[in-house]
Amino acid sequence: MTSILILNGPNLNLLGTRQPEVYGATTLEDIEQMCASAAARLQLEVTCAQSNHEGNLIDLIHAAKGTYAGIVLNAGAYTHTSIALMDAIASVELPVIEVHLSNIHARESFRHHSYIAPVALGQICGLGAQGYVLALEALAQRLSPS
Ligand code: DQA
Repeated sequence: MTSILILNGPNLNLLGTRQPEVYGATTLEDIEQMCASAAARLQLEVTCAQSNHEGNLIDLIHAAKGTYAGIVLNAGAYTHTSIALMDAIASVELPVIEVHLSNIHARESFRHHSYIAPVALGQICGLGAQGYVLALEALAQRLSPS
């Protein structure tokens, strides 16, 4: 079965209590459960991981090569700062879909730029937790054998 890594970056472990006016009441556990249900429907296998540390995220992306067929990545604030994450994604040559709960383009100008976007297959933002499910649907379609 096709395996997908769902990778969440810094501060996303605090979803549910973190700035609910921006990110809503959904917890990371809720999102991971939504992804597991979507995966079952799409005949995908998903593994979820979260780290607050840039180097750990890079290690997880490196380790994904050969194990996963694609990555759904919400890199949190590293999206806007990390050339190292961009390089890691480019190095593993896996399809990555960038997801953000909030519409980063409607927020502060420093959130408008993404280092991930140029090396991602696509970007989904502003749709809350549904963005993760849409990303899985897109990967399922891209990676299906037919
Ligand atoms: C975020 C948007 C980022 O700008 C922010 O730093 C986050 C969350 C989102 O999911 O909307 O941590 O990636």
